[in-house]
Order: sequence, then C-alpha cells, then structure tokens
Amino acid sequence: MEKLTFQSTKRLNNKVRIPLMGFGVAEIAEDLKTQVRILREAIEVGYRLFDTAQIYRSERAVGIAIKESGIPREEFFISSKIFDEQKYDRTTESFEESLRKMGIDYIDRFVLHWPLPGHYIQSWKELEKIHRSGRARCISVSNFEIWHMRNLLPNCEIIPATNQIEFNPTYMANEQREFCENWGVAMEAYTPIGRYGRFADNEILNRVGERHGKSVYQVLLRWDIQHNVIPVPRSSNQKHMAQNADIFDFELTSEDMAEIDSMNIDDRRNANPYNQL
Ligand SMILES: NC(=O)c1ccc[n+]([C@@H]2O[C@H](COP(=O)([O-])OP(=O)(O)OC[C@H]3O[C@@H](n4cnc5c(N)ncnc54)[C@H](OP(=O)(O)O)[C@@H]3O)[C@@H](O)[C@H]2O)c1
Repeated sequence: MEKLTFQSTKRLNNKVRIPLMGFGVAEIAEDLKTQVRILREAIEVGYRLFDTAQIYRSERAVGIAIKESGIPREEFFISSKIFDEQKYDRTTESFEESLRKMGIDYIDRFVLHWPLPGHYIQSWKELEKIHRSGRARCISVSNFEIWHMRNLLPNCEIIPATNQIEFNPTYMANEQREFCENWGVAMEAYTPIGRYGRFADNEILNRVGERHGKSVYQVLLRWDIQHNVIPVPRSSNQKHMAQNADIFDFELTSEDMAEIDSMNIDDRRNANPYNQL
C-alpha cells in the first residue's frame, strides 16, 4: 500500500483529488493582518486545503495569503461555504462575491454550510449550475444529517462530493458516516480536536499517545485519517500547526482504534441540524 504523507491526496466521487487533511479558518483571528500572518504560517508548514466560509470573515485573508505565497494556485484546494445567503435566488450572486473577496476565478469546493429548511434543495440546484459553469470543481454539503441527504439525493443530479460534520471520539455519527460513504460522499471532520482543549487530559487518548510518543492532538487527527475522514483542525499557533501535520510516521493499531471508539457518547459540541428540519 502507498505510504501516506502530509502531501497525500484522495480521490472524491467526481475524480477531483483533495488533501487528506486541511486547515480550518474559522475564528483564527479578528483582524485581516493577523489572519494573513497565520495563514502564511500554515502554508509554510505545508497545508494546502483551506476551509473557510462566508460567515468566518476570512475569505479575503485566504486569497491574500495564497497569492502572496507565490505557490501556483492549482496546488491549493480552496473551500468556502454559503450560509445565510443561501436562499436560491441569491446563491450565485453570493458565490461570485466569495470569489471576488478571495481574488480567484474558480474555487475547488463550494459548500452549503447548513441545510436551511425549505431552501436547501433549490440552493443545491443553484450549486449544480455553478459547478457546470466550471467555477467550482466540487460542490458539497455540511451539517447534512441522514434525513437531509434522503431529501436531497432524489432531487439532485450531482451527488455532493463531501459532507462536513462534527466528528471526534465523543461524537462519531456512525450511521451518518456509513450512509454517506455508501453514496460515495467523503466525510470531513470539523471540531476534530474537540475545540478549547476538551480532550487534553483524557486518559485513553493520553495512554494511546504515550504508546506512540505522540500528543493527544496527533492521536485525534491520526484517528480521523484511519477512519477515512478528512480533518480540518484550526490553530493560530505555528508549533501546533506543525505538530498536527506530523501524523504520518505512526499508525494506530486496531486495539488503539477500538479503545478510542469506545469514547463515543454521541455528544456533539455544535448546533444540531435535526432541530431545524
Ligand atoms: N461546517 C461547520 O458548521 C463547522 C463548524 C465548526 C467548525 N468548522 C470548521 O472546523 C474547523 C476546526 O474546528 P473548531 O474550530 O471547532 O475546533 P478544533 O480544530 O477542534 O480546535 C481548535 C482549538 O484547538 C487548539 N489546538 C489546535 N492544535 C493544537 C495542538 N497541537 N495543541 C494544543 N492545542 C491545539 C487551537 O488552539 P491554538 O490556536 O492555540 O492552536 C484551538 O483552540 C474550523 O476552523 C472550521 O473551519 C466547521
């Protein structure tokens, strides 16, 4: 089997390749200058997949940092999401504004951030038009539960390339992942390291980390990769960014994986889209 590295990519259902791990660009800093500095540091470490969104107010910084890096545009996988503007009659206009803010003429992935009740099927049809225009290499969803996927799939011509959901050892969304994987929809993990040091003192993760000489954060991200999920951890600290990327020189055993899986209590940290069917 091919040895995975931080530069490895995997193939999505439309043949586009995506890095195995990305960089979350929500809440990294308030001001543009600091956001650009943090993104420059992430690019230096080697991150190429950037997960921004209209509501994160970081699209501009992503565009500037990528341009200033001097690295060819096609080496990056830029992803953004549309949220409160996703009413179907404003989707394309809002997409174009995202491109303008980032100073790019195509995006690698454009995502419906949230299944807005009564709108997401029409919004998806607009995303399909955007994809056909050649300006979004992939179109995807986020926070789509099985219920939303079941509503969307019979109504779509293009199956979403990915579904980004909360995924970590205490919220594993097993049925949702299985459902998506059966449809060829790749899973992506947000809040992969639990946000705000939630797992730092966890006994199981520390024990597994000690066995491999790795931190809790590295164990968490490696566990994602071995579950075939793309993590998008966020960090404003370059040492942490580098540590998070350094997870391709060890492998969790099946016992390690089972031990970590046993932490699942289906307790999510983020809003539950089921409450807004
Ligand atoms: N689609 C959605 O609805 C949705 C929702 C939530 C998040 N997201 C995406 O997912 C990304 C990440 O999720 P998240 O923001 O919830 O949190 P997260 O990535 O699980 O956790 C981020 C926190 O972990 C810390 N951290 C990172 N690496 C560390 C390390 N090696 N050692 C110690 N601390 C470390 C960071 O602090 P430092 O800055 O000090 O490193 C930060 O406080 C977001 O940026 C966003 O792109 C999407």
